[in-house]
Amino acid sequence: MEKALIEAKNLVKTYGEGEGLMYALNGVSITVYEHDFLVILGGSGCGKSTFLNMIGAIDKVDSGEIIVNGRDIVKLNDRGLTLYRRNEVGFVYQFFNLINDITVYQNVTLAPGSRNKERAEQLLDSVGLLDKKNKFPRQLSGGQQQRVAIARALNKPSDILLCDEPTGALDDASGKAVLKLLEEIHNEGKTIVLVTHTREIAQMANRIITMKSGQVVSDVRNENIVKAEEIEW
Ligand SMILES: Nc1ncnc2c1ncn2[C@@H]1O[C@H](COP(=O)(O)OP(=O)(O)O)[C@@H](O)[C@H]1O
Ligand SMILES: [Mg+2]
Repeated sequence: MEKALIEAKNLVKTYGEGEGLMYALNGVSITVYEHDFLVILGGSGCGKSTFLNMIGAIDKVDSGEIIVNGRDIVKLNDRGLTLYRRNEVGFVYQFFNLINDITVYQNVTLAPGSRNKERAEQLLDSVGLLDKKNKFPRQLSGGQQQRVAIARALNKPSDILLCDEPTGALDDASGKAVLKLLEEIHNEGKTIVLVTHTREIAQMANRIITMKSGQVVSDVRNENIVKAEEIEW
């Protein structure tokens, strides 16, 4: 039996009101299983980031349940949500979201609970950037900045990495390096949820969910997983 890490049930999120009311999520149910490399695919505006932000507790749903480790995180209070974000999910964003006036090393160790010096150095080494630890983000390329952001996300006790268009701001070579890194991280045991509009990237997933207009339109196992190295887009 596969173990469910996140069970999102019937999520609804609307924006606007009256004539301007729109459903960013219109009854989305998605279960993330332990050790999934789940890619959620869909065109711009279909609700991918909204979904990721809900399961990452960055934003709140209007209704629905998100069961993680036996409790519904929708019902957590602010303190509970802070601890959830800190300990149970790592986030990687399209535009890296690094803090620009502190060093790479400080970015990786900033979050409370992540101040383990040795671990931070190991992580920077594993993303190939230990020699850049005293640089500032602006001194690095986009691809390097994204690898710092991945090291930051890994410097948490969480089992799950949520990635929102992680290659969206990168050139092809840097994008591929980031995908290879995510593949390695998955092979080492992390569960990954990656949302993208780039169809080719879904080839590396073991499961592919397609969304359209705030709904899930398909949820399939990928029988033909392609290595990041071989993906072209
Ligand atoms: N803060 C917001 N205010 C109003 N509308 C929003 C907001 N965030 C997202 N939306 C709308 O919700 C829909 C889904 O957005 P999003 O989840 O960002 O899509 P995707 O990530 O798939 O491109 C879009 O129509 C978008 O315009
Ligand atoms: Mg998005």
